[in-house]
Amino acid sequence: MIQPVILCGGSGTRLWPLSRKALPKQFVPLIQGKSLLALTLERVAPLTDRASGVMCVGSEDHRFLVREAIGDAGLVGSVILEPFARNTAAAMAMAALKAPCVDQLLLFCPSDHHIPDVAAFAAMVRGAMPCARQGRIVTFGVMPTFPSTGYGYIDKGQARDDGGHAVGRFIEKPASEKAQQLLLTGNVLWNAGIFLCRADNLLAALAQHAPDILASCREAMMGAAIDCEFVRPAADPLETCRSESIDYAVMERHGDVAVFPFAGAWSDVGSWNAVAEMCPPDEQGNRIEGQGVAINANNNFVHAPNRCVVALGVDDLVIVDTPDAVLVARREGAEQVQLVVPELEKRG
Ligand code: GDD
Ligand code: MG
Repeated sequence: MIQPVILCGGSGTRLWPLSRKALPKQFVPLIQGKSLLALTLERVAPLTDRASGVMCVGSEDHRFLVREAIGDAGLVGSVILEPFARNTAAAMAMAALKAPCVDQLLLFCPSDHHIPDVAAFAAMVRGAMPCARQGRIVTFGVMPTFPSTGYGYIDKGQARDDGGHAVGRFIEKPASEKAQQLLLTGNVLWNAGIFLCRADNLLAALAQHAPDILASCREAMMGAAIDCEFVRPAADPLETCRSESIDYAVMERHGDVAVFPFAGAWSDVGSWNAVAEMCPPDEQGNRIEGQGVAINANNNFVHAPNRCVVALGVDDLVIVDTPDAVLVARREGAEQVQLVVPELEKRG
């Protein structure tokens, strides 16, 4: 069986003002009153070995939210609490070091994706298990629909006889021109950010490509304090640990990777436009959540859970209302919202 590892230490600044430092997007009740973390745990529950349960890796600040979400999904598990967020390579290394046995199959999942078809997700993972057991790092790929610069791309190599492909090349977050070229080849998939592998194989890949990160994590986990389900790695080695994503640290460099395509719906919910896509449009193309109203207006997205917000005579806007902050942006440039948090921090 599998031990899922849910990565929930990201800050989710691209969904400001709904996603905040105190409550990043994975904890916000975003879909029918459920958080993306809760939906992720529900999705992995049928694949989880009931005895060893799940592992979550995240921040001390959100430990009770994580513990509650694990219980609500009917699971048991442990939570590794990072004193400093050091990106996904370190988070995954610490989880692999804590695995119950060296060749434990680990399913690393982001906590902030929306994959509505739980059965298709389970079938995808089950289909890739023999390949991961044989020692490959498996990643899952989604058919790209536009030249995104926010995703990793996988250039498919030779087809395997188990439904997967070898990875020809892994290209993390290419610039716009490169993304367009990749799309034109017709041979690429987006990296879904979900990985299946044995703990020992991931640790070997880290030892080869990022030995400094692995050494810091090893030291941090050797000095970890355990308090019921909470695991607190030692802070000093993590403070000086290099902050790098697994994609740059390992995936772009490692040879032994396979990709399995996923045909089901998948969204990384990484922008307001991605959230808007999940809300059905009215006849004028407006997507309205909560108490929003659109009059003589077209193609707007209005998120208004608390009070009446009217879009009057305007087109192509994202309007997000929260009790203490409001965002108004053009849908086309809504990605620029990632500029907001650094700018507000500068202004104190
Ligand atoms: N515990 C922990 N600690 N989790 C983290 C940290 C950290 O320091 N940093 C990020 N995470 C979590 C996030 O909460 C998210 O669930 C997941 O790890 C992925 O991190 P992102 O920061 O969201 O990555 P990304 O979206 O920029 O890129 C990745 O995902 C894309 C698909 O959504 C890459 O894998 C891309 O190649 C991929 O296309
Ligand atoms: Mg992401």
